[in-house]
Amino acid sequence: MIAPDGSPVEVFAALPARGVPEMLHGQMLADDSVLELGCGAGRVANALAALGHTVTGVDESPEMLAHLSKAVEAVEGDIYALDLRRRFDVVVVGSYLVNMWAPLVLAACARHVTADGVVFVQRFAPAWARAAEVGEAQSGPVLVRFDPMSCSNDRLTATVTYSLGTQQWQQSLEGAVLDDAAIARHASIAGLKFDGVIDAYDEWVRLVATAVVSPTSSGGRW
Ligand SMILES: C[S@@+](CC[C@H](N)C(=O)[O-])C[C@H]1O[C@@H](n2cnc3c(N)ncnc32)[C@H](O)[C@@H]1O
Repeated sequence: MIAPDGSPVEVFAALPARGVPEMLHGQMLADDSVLELGCGAGRVANALAALGHTVTGVDESPEMLAHLSKAVEAVEGDIYALDLRRRFDVVVVGSYLVNMWAPLVLAACARHVTADGVVFVQRFAPAWARAAEVGEAQSGPVLVRFDPMSCSNDRLTATVTYSLGTQQWQQSLEGAVLDDAAIARHASIAGLKFDGVIDAYDEWVRLVATAVVSPTSSGGRW
């Protein structure tokens, strides 16, 4: 089964979370509510729920959502157009979705985070993306290979091959390299503020809200 964006469901149900939920949990208050956009099979969402958070996961693939634990509220939908009319203490977007369409992803984050909330987005590590070196890594039972891979004018293009047991899947990957300055610029347009990088791989970025427009606002006097 393949999600509309080309992500193989079996692969994302098998990939380990490799400490990401615990890292994010360490940045939150114990009772923070969490919204994960593009949650896939829930390797982060399920673990954050197990750590005590109230978690909502959004994905456009019902086959991915079928893997969420009962403790996670599942919402099938397009994250770019999403408007749940609810806000969360924390919004999480992994899997480099921000590199695909930063303005739409960050606007969706801003629409759903509370005024004193936090957004965590995972971007391509800028140095890794710019170097664009073919390579592979074993992640739990899945071998993930980036080949070919190229970066021109800060746009990364790659083919990812996932090997799991005797099966293989390929997924095309394309997106803009977002270094701290670029992500700060996009964040600021969305009403968010760049607040640093939280991991040693230079992937996970913390953003905070700068302005929240009330959904009930009349839009001013004009
Ligand atoms: C590479 S998978 C990763 C899933 C999860 N973040 C993880 O790390 O395991 C990307 C997920 O984002 C979802 N996705 C991509 N574009 C989306 C969109 N526009 N709206 C909703 N879901 C989307 C896909 O269906 C897929 O489940």
